[in-house]
Amino acid sequence: MLDEELSLLRTTALAELSTAASGAELENIRVKTLGKKGSLTQILRGLGQMAEAERANLGALANAFKEAFAEALSRRMQEIKQAELGQRLENEWVDVTLPGRPRNLGTIHPITRAQQEIIAIFTAMGFPPASGPEVESDWHNFEALNIPPDHPAREMHDTFYLPPGPDGRKRLLRTHTSPVQIHVMEGRQPPLRAIAPGRVFRCDSDLTHSPMFHQVEGFMVDEGVHFGQLKGLLEAFLIQFFERSLPVRFRPSFFPFTEPSAEVDMGCLFCSGQGCRVCKRTGWLEVLGSGMIHPNVLANVGIDRERYSGFAFGMGVERLAMLKYGISDMRALFDNDVRFLTRFA
Ligand code: DAH
Repeated sequence: MLDEELSLLRTTALAELSTAASGAELENIRVKTLGKKGSLTQILRGLGQMAEAERANLGALANAFKEAFAEALSRRMQEIKQAELGQRLENEWVDVTLPGRPRNLGTIHPITRAQQEIIAIFTAMGFPPASGPEVESDWHNFEALNIPPDHPAREMHDTFYLPPGPDGRKRLLRTHTSPVQIHVMEGRQPPLRAIAPGRVFRCDSDLTHSPMFHQVEGFMVDEGVHFGQLKGLLEAFLIQFFERSLPVRFRPSFFPFTEPSAEVDMGCLFCSGQGCRVCKRTGWLEVLGSGMIHPNVLANVGIDRERYSGFAFGMGVERLAMLKYGISDMRALFDNDVRFLTRFA
């Protein structure tokens, strides 16, 4: 009678173990079977009162059950742990090959932004970007640009001179981006055009001057290039850059590397020509230097000055950025105060 009960108990307990789905369920079954008041525990306890023969028989069966139960319990425990791990791996799976989510790290500095906008406008008009070194030879910065050693225009450039290079040639920090014209033209023949952004250096520092600032230089050389093209180009540029229609005027001026030379003014953005502080009551803002490339410059780089002509222009990026973004104090561009910079997000 008891051995039947025991074998039924064994079958149910092992069956329950094999279908248990969690550690908690397993624990319930263990307590129900082997706990203090567990069914098997009670049977084992009852063995003492039994007759010798019956006890031996039932004892063996009960012990075999106990062992089988313990074994099945630990196997099932392992299986459940494996399944739980598998589930977690499935749920917490991360596709490491997905591209990262880009986060905005900082903002584009207004100088860089203005520079990028200037370059974008001119490249769209067919001027490929070019660059040159910041440490320049006297030849590229001055002489090739028709500024000989004793020329008075040199004084306006407040040049930082450097010790001569290994070749003994005079070196300096470029005072403008015009020498990039020379680099692009050297060893090449027209048609040539380029737009060249870059840092320039002058030994001059006060409220409105930084010893390092930015310029963009542009030029074009070909047969039959004339001043009318230069005018049209710069007008179109200013209208695109400032995103509005503007009066533009060319005022006769002097640069050693252009002849004739002109300074380019545009109608004041802040008073529409009425006269205000920004335009010093003139109604005009001076924004560019320009002119027809001096024939001496072409000859200096081995381009036939009779056959070819060209125009060139140069602009200060700080000034254009300040006008476009309404920045009144140039020092803000160099302080790098985050409260200022985040305005340009
Ligand atoms: N290089 C001049 C400067 O630094 C700017 C300039 C004026 C560039 C006239 C030009 C030009 O190419 O034609 O002030």
